[in-house]
Amino acid sequence: MILEQFRSGGCLSYLVGCDQHGVGLLVDPEITLLDRYLAAAAQHGLRLHYLVDTHTHADHFSACRKLARRLELPVVMHRASPAPFVDIRVDEGECLIVGQLRLQILHTPGHTADSICLKLADCVLTGDTLLIGATGRTDLPTGDASELYDSLFGKLLELPAETRVFPAHNYRGQSSTTIGDERATNPRLQVDGRQAFVALMDNLNLKAPDHLTEALRVNCSGGRSVAQLIAEAADHIAFMPIDEVQRRIADPAGELVVLDVREAESFREGHIPGARHVPRGQLELRVDSVLPDPLQRIVVYCEFGKISTLATAMLRSIGFARAVALDGGFQQWRSSGLPIESGSGSV
Ligand SMILES: [Fe+2]
Repeated sequence: MILEQFRSGGCLSYLVGCDQHGVGLLVDPEITLLDRYLAAAAQHGLRLHYLVDTHTHADHFSACRKLARRLELPVVMHRASPAPFVDIRVDEGECLIVGQLRLQILHTPGHTADSICLKLADCVLTGDTLLIGATGRTDLPTGDASELYDSLFGKLLELPAETRVFPAHNYRGQSSTTIGDERATNPRLQVDGRQAFVALMDNLNLKAPDHLTEALRVNCSGGRSVAQLIAEAADHIAFMPIDEVQRRIADPAGELVVLDVREAESFREGHIPGARHVPRGQLELRVDSVLPDPLQRIVVYCEFGKISTLATAMLRSIGFARAVALDGGFQQWRSSGLPIESGSGSV
């Protein structure tokens, strides 16, 4: 059996495989590690068969939807998952077969209503139901402390003490634990009955995770995060370094059009000398009058280099084949002490 753990910040994800049959699956893949999962699967000689999310994540972006499209693989989640793109909706008592491995599904609601754990051999992947020295929180959408009590005390902690536990989160650099160790030392499990557990969970007063609404939007709809949108646009364009732009605008024979896509007020306050101005929101509608030659060499910039990446990808998609984005934003231009012009300028 192959079990490789991946860490991205506090999020843990897993490649599980059967080396005899060369098949595997990913559990809780996170979007920023997408290329690493594929490289690891290839390195182990595994062809992936399933993509599993142990629950609807509220704190990071699942890679299941993107990997499913790219690799034509089924996404597996509990039947209570709100995500419409789930291909295989599983429930308590079912299992996934991957080569010689049997991954048994345990429905363990509490952190979310759609939480599952995956039991295989002497291991259990616990998602956010049971963590190392902690449990998943129960104050986010569909969380329920009383259900978590049943999932933990009525199900997970009934597993043999030596069962190795691999959670979906750990913020202290620990990678695994055992059911026995958690039973003995996990502070949240040292409670006297359901009421005490619920009271403990209800009084944790945790701060909401970063990107909560964006993560739920992406993970429940299969849509893209803003960071993904920008990264995908960046994959379709080229960039020009700041010093190259500076050199080219200093050359009177230079043919480079510098296009500022920030709002009018920012442009008036200061811009790259000679820059033309079309706010991002007006770009599609005004581009043909402002830039009549689609073969013109154009460098697009904004304040931080994100909106300009999207704008450049759009310009390329409509035929401006020589549009590139400034590598960095005006913020970097300004902080580098490079020349700045103010006023409304041209166009
Ligand atoms: Fe979670």
